[in-house]
Parts: sequence; structure tokens; C-alpha cells
Amino acid sequence: SSTSSSTSGSRSTVASPRTTSRPSSWDTFVGGIDTSSVTILWAMSELIRNPRVMKKAQEEIRAAVGEQRARVQPDDLPKLNYLKMVLKETLRLYPPATLLLPRETMRHVRIGGYDVPAGTRVAVNAWALGRDPASWGEDADEFNPDRFEAGARHGEVDLHGAHFELVPFGAGRRICPGMAMALMNVEFALANLLCGFDWALPEGTKAEDLCMEEAGGLTFHRKTPLVLVPTPYVPPSAA
Ligand code: HEM
Repeated sequence: SSTSSSTSGSRSTVASPRTTSRPSSWDTFVGGIDTSSVTILWAMSELIRNPRVMKKAQEEIRAAVGEQRARVQPDDLPKLNYLKMVLKETLRLYPPATLLLPRETMRHVRIGGYDVPAGTRVAVNAWALGRDPASWGEDADEFNPDRFEAGARHGEVDLHGAHFELVPFGAGRRICPGMAMALMNVEFALANLLCGFDWALPEGTKAEDLCMEEAGGLTFHRKTPLVLVPTPYVPPSAA
């Protein structure tokens, strides 16, 4: 791509590099922050509704961290397999960039019995792909990270763009360039939230009443704020 200078009046301006396909630092900033924070909120929302999964994730994290500490270090992350499954399941049900980035067909194509002319703008619905019973079975809408267990039906499915039923980071040449950083940041934040605290809903709120509605925008958010009550966790050796 090239950036060209032009002069208008007495002011020298830099023309926008319209032909470039490189993301700007602004794209990186916008694309990286909101997506990661909403993912943490959706994960915590589902975990509070699924105490079995919350317990399993916390036990894995606290066992990996050991009896001395209540904090996760970056070196602990490779040991947290179940947490990775929790994150995959969260991104399957709540891909923050629901329709990915728009694409345009470069030539006429025939796909699934449809003729799509050249130059058609195409939106890929990652949300619908992630909830399609044809790929995920009758429990497609249920939050169940165990479906990604090694040897289970979806044990081989990952979110790096090779399995089209799970594309929260997109696929192909425009796949999210921040994917590795995003996964690590979200895992690290979630691991510490789950290690350092036990979580409950405020008194009088039932898990089944927790609103899980989405509100659309550039990224898909929770429609209502998530309010939880944390209790600090004391590791056994410090108790
Ligand atoms: C959970 C977190 C994140 C999710 C779910 C996510 C998802 C996505 C998706 C779906 C796309 C479009 C890909 C496509 O259409 O094939 C995208 C693009 C992009 N993402 Fe992310 N992203 C996340 C975090 C990040 C982070 C942390 C960064 C930067 C540090 C980042 C930077 C970008 C940029 C710059 C693009 C545009 C790439 C281009 O125009 O070719 N993202 N992201």
C-alpha cells in the first residue's frame, strides 16, 4: 500500500491511504478492547448460571496455581485446558463481532444453490454458525464447554479459522490479527477472577432470572449490566 502527499491551499495534508488493507492503530485499539471485555462479561454471566462449570473451572485453576497463591501467573495458562474450553464455548455463543467484517465477492460464484454475482457484499453470520443445530446438535443453545473435551464430538474443533462452524475471529486472510493476544489476555483476566474470588449473584437474584439478552452495536453486548458479588478466596495454606 502507498501513502501519498497532496497540497490543498497552503496546508500540506496526507491523503488517506484508501487502497490499503492494513488495519490502522485505531482499528487495532477499537477492535481489541471492547471485544475482549464483552467476552469476559459473557463468560462470567454463563458461569454464574452454570455452577457445575464454574466449579470445574475454579478447581482446575486453583489446582494449577497451588496451595500457596490466590493469583494466576502467565506461566500457569498452558495448564488451564478447561478454561480454554470455557472461552471457546463463550465465543461460540457470543461472538462479539457477530457478522465479522464485510466481504465482497470478486467473481460470480454459485454456492449452496444460490448464484452470487461478482461485487456482492457478503456478511458472514458467525453468531448463527455457532448456534446451528446441524453442526452442534440439539443442545446448540446450551452452554456446555465439555463438548470440546478431547474425544468428544467437537473435541477437534478450534477457533483459528479452519472450522467454519466456529469463527469468532473470522477466517482467511482477514482473520483477526489480535487473536493470540486476545485469547491470552481474556484467559489471564478470567483465570484471575475465578481463582481469587468466589462469585454469587446479589441476594434475591436467581440465576435463572439473569437477563441474557444481547444489545447490538459494533460489538454485541449484554443488554443489562452484570452485577455479581465477589468473596475473596483464601488458599488452603494461608487459611
Ligand atoms: C475476544 C477478542 C476478539 C475477537 C472475538 C475479535 C474478533 C475479530 C473479528 C471477527 C475480526 C474480523 C475478521 C474477519 O472478518 O475474518 C477482527 C478483526 C480485527 N481485529 Fe480482532 N478480535 C478480538 C480481539 C482483538 C485484539 C486484542 C486486537 C488487537 C490487539 C484485535 C485487532 C483486530 C484488527 C486490527 C482487525 C482488523 C483486521 C483487518 O482489517 O484485516 N482484535 N477481530
